[in-house]
Amino acid sequence: MKKTVLFGAAYVALAHGAAHAQQAEVNIICSGQAPWCSMVAVTFEKSQGIKVNMTLKGSGEAIAQLVAEKANPKTDVFFGGTGDPHLVAAEQNLTLEYKSPLLPKLYDWAQRQAAQSGYKTVGIYSGPLGFGYNTELLAKKKLPVPQTWADLIKPIYKGEIQSANPSSSGTAYTMIATLVQLMGEDKAFAYLAELHKNISTYQRSGVGPIKAVARGEAAVSISFVHDGPGEKAQGFPLETITPTDGTGAEIGSMSIVRGARNLDAAKKFYDWALTPGAQALGAATLQFQLPSNRETKVDPRVPDFRKIKMIDYDYAKYGQAAERRRLIQRWEREVNGQAR
Ligand code: G6P
Repeated sequence: MKKTVLFGAAYVALAHGAAHAQQAEVNIICSGQAPWCSMVAVTFEKSQGIKVNMTLKGSGEAIAQLVAEKANPKTDVFFGGTGDPHLVAAEQNLTLEYKSPLLPKLYDWAQRQAAQSGYKTVGIYSGPLGFGYNTELLAKKKLPVPQTWADLIKPIYKGEIQSANPSSSGTAYTMIATLVQLMGEDKAFAYLAELHKNISTYQRSGVGPIKAVARGEAAVSISFVHDGPGEKAQGFPLETITPTDGTGAEIGSMSIVRGARNLDAAKKFYDWALTPGAQALGAATLQFQLPSNRETKVDPRVPDFRKIKMIDYDYAKYGQAAERRRLIQRWEREVNGQAR
């Protein structure tokens, strides 16, 4: 009898193990907005039969997790968020070289992002930096719409502007790197110190400020302008503008973690995420970055780069771990540490 019971338990354990082996899974950190991340997870799971375990983290927090997990990675894919932490991860050998068969289908900027990282990351979308503003609040306060970076440091905007904190947000780091490239480093930090006087709050995540502006909690935000139309579509009095004195853009990226436990599933996800069908899930969930596959349908609400004065952003330089750390530390010291 005892023997039979043991056999039964062992049999159950085996059958359970076999069921597990059949259901492949993939662990993903998603640094996009929640509705998009969920839609990506559900659609991939349903169409490919691979279970998705997804965690949402800002770009800066995602890289911190990958560093912490280095000896024993629990994450397979790092999906979305600005490109700089992906380039940092590549430099620190936290991510794996992979050349997707979909690479030739991508825009040059997305392929360049891959090539300059030794194919340890790839561009999945791009979007320009600019300002969000609440039309009703500006009218009520009789404030003009800011047109240039220089406008933002005028005393009329004191306490009216929100930005994000570059230690946790790739959006805010893109702002610092953009200003350094536009003005030269010392002038950019003098500018950021002036801007600091007009900032009411530095939020943890990059989308926080534009959401606050949409809801009337601040008049102006420094944001990726593709985050604007989604707020507007929800009925908020929100518009965006890009500075006429020039601006930078992000190359949102995706990487496979070195030592991923579910490597086959990770590669399947990576290839799938570069298809026009998967990329269209962005606009379907009100995310209006420019998708990296040339064949992905572009929603009319996606910002038109041809109408924006773009700087020639040096992604390789500003994606270097030491440069990124140095600029963020300088910002903490000379800007965030100062009284307002
Ligand atoms: C939003 C934007 C993305 C961007 C991300 C960066 O989700 O829509 O395009 O990559 O913010 O997030 P972070 O919190 O790191 O600034």
